[in-house]
Amino acid sequence: MLFTPFFDFTYHSLLKPVLFMMDPEVVHEGFTKVGEGLERTPWLVAPFFRYSHPSLKKTVLGIEFDNPVGLSAGFDYDGHMAAVMHSVGFGFNTVGTVTARVYAGNAAPRLARLPKSHSLLVNKGFKSEGARAVRARLDKKNLSHSTIGLSVGSSNVPEVNTVTKAIADYVTTFKLFAKRKYVKYFELNISCPNTAVTGTFYAPENFARLCKAVSALKLFPPIFVKMPSEISFVDSDALVSTALKYNIRGFIFSNLVKDRNNPAFDRGEIEKVVGLRGNFSGRPVYANSNKLIAHTRKKFGKKIAIIGVGGVFTTADVRAKFAAGADLVQLITGMIFEGPQLIGKINKSLAGDAS
Ligand SMILES: Cc1cc2nc3c(=O)[nH]c(=O)nc-3n(C[C@H](O)[C@H](O)[C@H](O)COP(=O)(O)O)c2cc1C
Repeated sequence: MLFTPFFDFTYHSLLKPVLFMMDPEVVHEGFTKVGEGLERTPWLVAPFFRYSHPSLKKTVLGIEFDNPVGLSAGFDYDGHMAAVMHSVGFGFNTVGTVTARVYAGNAAPRLARLPKSHSLLVNKGFKSEGARAVRARLDKKNLSHSTIGLSVGSSNVPEVNTVTKAIADYVTTFKLFAKRKYVKYFELNISCPNTAVTGTFYAPENFARLCKAVSALKLFPPIFVKMPSEISFVDSDALVSTALKYNIRGFIFSNLVKDRNNPAFDRGEIEKVVGLRGNFSGRPVYANSNKLIAHTRKKFGKKIAIIGVGGVFTTADVRAKFAAGADLVQLITGMIFEGPQLIGKINKSLAGDAS
């Protein structure tokens, strides 16, 4: 990991001011192209960004993670950057959320920035090239160094309009990836707040049907359920208990928040996006996520594994998630606001904690 102060300076003083003036989806598409291009030359990325240290290694649900900082679902929807994220410094990276059917995404605008609130407004609604196209792309990549998690959702299309159809849709994607060795774990995403079926699987009876169908597939990689942010402890516990009955022991707390009265928002900023549909990442997720992690760890103890996500911008934020009970963390918004050198910086300070 070389020249971090230089990358910090360049990102904050030169790159970010320009990027943050541009349309966020255009910037993301640009990053995706550059990132995918750089996969051919990892030696141009890893020495500058990746920080490795034996003390950072961690085994969770039988998977060995090089370091505990992962890329959360929603940055690499279609797997274009699946290989380069290891060079950027992540210990694991999520591809997806992937759905069985192709979906162009909700009506634009699908992204907006709220810099004072350290948040992004997201309205993608499972934009996806479809599981078959993503699988064909991943099959061609060299993922030998990567620890890939595949986030699976049900297609956000009008035809998938009942619980039975949604379950069948999830199962299609799981089956397509079941034998792919590069998938080290799955994320079962039941908590996207931007789709037509949002909330369907918060009802324990529906969630039990989904878990039953997924566990019948006897998948080798472990499954982590991506949990909602705005859920009571009682309702969250019911979902965790249901998953455990089907031997699903991983949980990710948590997904985007809807509540525009969340105290983490700068009021002026939230009023500016009043006409825009979508839900929020970053700082407004932080407190909900930490509370759910702490509660769930206390209630279910060591029989479950927890990935903490939401509002990680600094090493202190990571430590807070670990203190609450997370085994691993993920982030997206922190990388967009602080730059890709953030991952190596966090890992370096975590390694300092251990020595
Ligand atoms: C642009 C964007 C797209 C997202 N898309 C997904 C998604 O497809 N599936 C999912 O489970 N979470 C999705 N999320 C939620 C993130 O995975 C994460 O739970 C949330 O943003 C909190 O983390 P952060 O504060 O580090 O961004 C998305 C977030 C962002 C910012």
